[in-house]
Amino acid sequence: MAKTKNHTVFFCKECGYESAKWMGQCPSCRQWNTFVEEPAAEAARPGMIKRNAGKAAVPVSISDISLEEQDRTPTGFGELDRVLGDGIVKGSLVLVGGDPGIGKSTLLLQVCRNLAASGKRLLYISGEESLKQIKMRANRIGAVSGELFFLCETNLDAVSGAIENTKPEIVVIDSIQTMYREDLSSAPGSVSQVRESTNLLMQIAKGYGITIFIVGHVTKEGVVAGPRVLEHMVDTVLYFEGDRNDSYRILRAVKNRFGSTNEIGVFEMAENGLAEVKNPSEMLLSGRPEGTSGSVVACSMEGTRPILLEVQALVTESGFGMARRTANGADYNRVNLLLAILEKRCGYAMGRYDAYVNIAGGLKMNEPALDLALIMALTSSFKNRAADPGMMIFGEVGLAGEVRAVSQAAQRVAEAVKMGFSSCMLPKANLEKLKEEKRIRLIGVSNVREAIGYLNT
Ligand code: TYD
Ligand code: MG
Repeated sequence: MAKTKNHTVFFCKECGYESAKWMGQCPSCRQWNTFVEEPAAEAARPGMIKRNAGKAAVPVSISDISLEEQDRTPTGFGELDRVLGDGIVKGSLVLVGGDPGIGKSTLLLQVCRNLAASGKRLLYISGEESLKQIKMRANRIGAVSGELFFLCETNLDAVSGAIENTKPEIVVIDSIQTMYREDLSSAPGSVSQVRESTNLLMQIAKGYGITIFIVGHVTKEGVVAGPRVLEHMVDTVLYFEGDRNDSYRILRAVKNRFGSTNEIGVFEMAENGLAEVKNPSEMLLSGRPEGTSGSVVACSMEGTRPILLEVQALVTESGFGMARRTANGADYNRVNLLLAILEKRCGYAMGRYDAYVNIAGGLKMNEPALDLALIMALTSSFKNRAADPGMMIFGEVGLAGEVRAVSQAAQRVAEAVKMGFSSCMLPKANLEKLKEEKRIRLIGVSNVREAIGYLNT
């Protein structure tokens, strides 16, 4: 990189793209109006080659790298352990993102409480709340005992000193956006501050073998404020999502160097903190209107776990020239595509109808296995014919209206059996590979029209 005379650079607030001049649209993430001007950090500029006088790095042969058992610590929350990939890994850096007020601080305080009770030494650093506020929250979640220390501080150099003195095994940084480093002139929460702060925390985590949880606030949907820069620096990225008006919260891994992603953990916010929801299917299906048109039960795989959920559709004659479509929790484009399939393959004049789709419980699902359930819900509402309330439905739908096989069919059927369903509609191709099942009636279908024939008359 050529050395510039500029003393400021421009960063994209969304993805951290760096540019010497201001631009309307970010060439990296294609967002508009996201560039902010910040002082250039000379020392941190990548691409500068420094001569490391006399010291050459020594590469290691792959056969000499020892693979000790990864040191995993259970958090006391089975739901969180699964999302992390079987507990906390020593020396890892975990980002917990989510909307303000969703329960990030509560979750981490409860994790600290569980770990302190099992004899760990912990340090909770808050840049947002006073010690009194933390104490008040701690009182809500129940008695805390053991070696759990608190610190209210936003200066990261002071924080790093405190970590060295306290020597904890696990550290929580409550909100990376409040932390700052003295040697940078930009404001806390700015892209360069967040990036440099995370850098320092990573050095601490790897250097001392301390696990660090970093809280990051999300400003816009799915984006931790400022930096997606953060996401590729840390080992694990967890998002805490859910409707603020609803008490259910979903913890989702979007990146994990020590386990699989796609795993979710389900929690419920109660009066005394977060409680685990061990059987999410039961919670998502409670209060379902049985025998009403437009409501069917689908199955989505979340990592290794099948989850049953209710898919609702409402199809009504359109009052205006343009049909209105909304998709809540499902993929909007996918819903439009399925409506087009119904129009072309079944001859329904969907263009003259408004269609509203909703996944009950505030979950977001975009697995193709949801297609058949969406088709059934839409048709059920369109024809005003209810589906069998004891039937669970899964399958992918292709453009020709064919029903295609999906993965992990056996697990999905097993979940339907567990939840007491009497029948299951699935792709014929999946049925042929399944073992005979006596506890549930399996209905194999090969195209959309065949599936629709199973709606009640
Ligand atoms: P908090 O953990 O402060 O959110 P974040 O750190 O993500 O900003 O959660 C705050 C919300 O949780 C607040 O609206 C109150 C609610 N809450 C409960 O309902 N029960 C509880 O026991 C606690 C501690 C919080
Ligand atoms: Mg908080």
